[in-house]
Amino acid sequence: MSTVTASSQREHRVTTRSLLRRKRQGRPFSMLTAYDVTFARIFDQAGIDVLLVGDSVGNTVQGHENTLPVTVDEIIYHTRMVARGVSRALIVGDMPFGSYQVSAEEAVRNAIRFLKEGGAHAVKLEGGRRVRETLARIVDADIPVMGHVGLTPQSIHAMGGYRVQGRGDRGRERVLEDALAVEAAGAFALVLEGVPAELAREITATVAIPTIGIGAGVHCDAQVLVQHDLLGLSDWTPSFAKQYANLGSLASQAARQFAEEVADRKFPGDEHSYR
Ligand code: KIV
Repeated sequence: MSTVTASSQREHRVTTRSLLRRKRQGRPFSMLTAYDVTFARIFDQAGIDVLLVGDSVGNTVQGHENTLPVTVDEIIYHTRMVARGVSRALIVGDMPFGSYQVSAEEAVRNAIRFLKEGGAHAVKLEGGRRVRETLARIVDADIPVMGHVGLTPQSIHAMGGYRVQGRGDRGRERVLEDALAVEAAGAFALVLEGVPAELAREITATVAIPTIGIGAGVHCDAQVLVQHDLLGLSDWTPSFAKQYANLGSLASQAARQFAEEVADRKFPGDEHSYR
């Protein structure tokens, strides 16, 4: 592809319709989590198609053990930062635990805030059959919704830990029914997390909307990674993730060198000092 074509394509905003087209054309797309303007800008300019302001911010940025403490206000705060760095990618705000479970009305009200105050283009919520009506109500308010089935981290206590879902006949049926329910309710895309690759292949072939895999094998229409796993910024990398860079060790090296140079009076040099 020529540079001119690549850069003119970059100028076109990614939309829910263009993602659907990618599925039909058999052209996989990519999604990364982003929580601030710095990385949102880097990922957007690198051609990442979808930026998810994930509730994984609870683990990665806030230092919580799981995603449950994250609030709507916090996701909106991070979505605003991400929106300032993006000119092409589709921005999806993740609805945190407690923001869509109580009633469909409250869910719609919260989803509206993601678009109005955060600048998101769409929202994501976890669950299959049990969130079907809520999901449909948000779609009815003209807000695109991304579903999320399989291993749903907000259900950590109900699942008894982070466990691969969809194993065995009953498990397979459950995840498949959840995926179909989310599609029927009007979702524009579907995250498949922590399910066997063969089941993800079956769901991807069955639903018309794009599937976005994380720990779900290579047959999905798209893949998502958490920023901190991609960049080596976490204490550990889950087995399903691939670390493409080790920014953690680079940052540590830079900080050590800075500390040493301060101790040795090597920094600041003349070139860093005013005359
Ligand atoms: O919050 C998040 O990062 C997510 C991804 C794992 C899909 O939901």
